[in-house]
Amino acid sequence: MWANLLVSPLILLLAFMHNLFPLVVLAQNNQVTSKYPCAFIDTVNITGSYPHEHEYGIGNNSTAQPYNNSYIYQWMIIPPELVAVYDFIIENGVRVPKERHLRACVCKLKPCIRFCCSQGFFYSLENKTCSAFSSILDNFLDQEFMKIQLTNGSIETVSTATHFLVHRGTPCEHMRIITKDNRYVHWTLYENGTIAYKNHLFSKHYCFSAFRESNKGNEIEWQWQPLACVPERLPFILGVREWTYAICLIITVICMIIILFVYLLCTDLRNTFYGVAIKSYTLCIIIGYSLLAHLTLTNPANMSKYACSKIPSFALLYLVLSFYILSFISFNFYLSFFGITLSNLMFWFIFFPIVVVAACWSFFVTFELYNNRPVFGNEICWFDPRNWSIVMYLYIPILLSCVFSGVFYILSLVKLNDGPDGDVNKLIASISRNR
Ligand SMILES: *[C@@H]1O[C@H](CO)[C@@H](O)[C@H](O)[C@H]1NC(C)=O
Ligand SMILES: *[C@@H]1O[C@H](CO)[C@@H](O)[C@H](O)[C@H]1NC(C)=O
Ligand SMILES: *[C@@H]1O[C@H](CO)[C@@H](O)[C@H](O)[C@H]1NC(C)=O
Ligand SMILES: *[C@@H]1O[C@H](CO)[C@@H](O)[C@H](O)[C@H]1NC(C)=O
Ligand SMILES: *[C@@H]1O[C@H](CO)[C@@H](O)[C@H](O)[C@H]1NC(C)=O
Ligand SMILES: *[C@@H]1O[C@H](CO)[C@@H](O)[C@H](O)[C@H]1NC(C)=O
Ligand SMILES: *[C@@H]1O[C@H](CO)[C@@H](O)[C@H](O)[C@H]1NC(C)=O
Repeated sequence: MWANLLVSPLILLLAFMHNLFPLVVLAQNNQVTSKYPCAFIDTVNITGSYPHEHEYGIGNNSTAQPYNNSYIYQWMIIPPELVAVYDFIIENGVRVPKERHLRACVCKLKPCIRFCCSQGFFYSLENKTCSAFSSILDNFLDQEFMKIQLTNGSIETVSTATHFLVHRGTPCEHMRIITKDNRYVHWTLYENGTIAYKNHLFSKHYCFSAFRESNKGNEIEWQWQPLACVPERLPFILGVREWTYAICLIITVICMIIILFVYLLCTDLRNTFYGVAIKSYTLCIIIGYSLLAHLTLTNPANMSKYACSKIPSFALLYLVLSFYILSFISFNFYLSFFGITLSNLMFWFIFFPIVVVAACWSFFVTFELYNNRPVFGNEICWFDPRNWSIVMYLYIPILLSCVFSGVFYILSLVKLNDGPDGDVNKLIASISRNR
């Protein structure tokens, strides 16, 4: 009896670890840039800039080591906490390894303004390059001065170089222009470098280019228009991390199949409450993790639109369900200290509403919109790692169930310490009676 009491929590603990490990691995996808002081797009390469305090010296490894001192970049003093060593750059949202170099978060010191091309050029959307203005007459849009809106609402023309730091270049490969009824719209450039038009607001991923539009008198007029990044399709990568993740999932599935068979073959465990609960738990994990492994190893491009939105919702259903079975088991574990033992019939009575809740949840998520786009089946057939949807739709329900289990386990432990003799004896007696 004691063995059974101890083994069940142990299995549960193992199950928790198994469950949480892949989730932690997944979560790391989101935290790539957190050890850097700001977003990559706000940084510039300051290699070769002068350290501010000369007594530290430039040293002979100035490219490899950040010295704990300030740098001077375009007449600005950059404090050391805004400088970091990067061994990559980000192009089109993808990390490209590069030699180690120093980058500084200059946009935190002074607002940045972004132009696609240098003076005298405009960005050609069809050729995806900067093209020179064809005639000198055209070239009257000057990057030197821009109209900005101050925080108090007044509009001023300022010298770009004194008010802003000027970034030149396109933040991504695929840019688009936002128009209304095929006409350009009027954007407001704020003094902090953010541009806004109605509910569109960009502070980083845009660049200004000159665009030509004929006005009412059929005269051709150039005006500044921002280009915004078209969201990229996430590239499908099957690297070491994905394989590790998939192999972990498959190992878990194999372990769960073994546990399931042990419970199926072991007749005296088969029909107890724990037996039924653990069997349904292992089934959920086997199905859920197999689906996850399938999603990890399959290129979304090769999946039908239907499979791409339905497989993740089934995986979500089984993952959430497995966690709720765990908290249900710990609830039952707690109940058993009061001499209440749930029979396996009771299990199905409580299990059914849990299934309904989990199914409703995954059904809801399947049809839910996140940032105006469906949660599943956009471009990747799982939660999009570039936003927080996975936290909302997967981690929060799981966290809730962990809180439930945690509370019941702590209550059980308290109970166990309170009356180790009488209660446990009663418990054992009741379990034997139940048998
Ligand atoms: C950073 O700037 C240095 C000096 O201008 C240059 O040699 C190096 O290639 C740059 N690194 C990157 C990644 O742009
Ligand atoms: C580089 O550093 C080493 C060790 O600190 C020193 O011996 C050497 O003279 C330095 N070289 C130059 C070019 O500064
Ligand atoms: C300079 O870098 C080299 C290799 O990157 C390293 O062996 C050496 O110790 C570094 N010197 C100093 C003074 O940091
Ligand atoms: C770097 O600077 C910070 C404060 O500016 C200081 O606390 C720290 O000790 C310094 N580290 C080194 C290695 O000089
Ligand atoms: C785009 O490229 C084509 C061919 O290279 C060229 O004829 C055309 O003028 C270019 N368009 C612009 C806007 O530069
Ligand atoms: C807004 O502030 C600027 C300077 O800070 C000032 O010149 C301007 O008159 C102010 N406008 C209004 C409407 O208060
Ligand atoms: C810049 O200012 C605008 C208007 O005051 C504001 O809506 C926006 O959030 C600000 N952007 C940043 C990055 O602070």
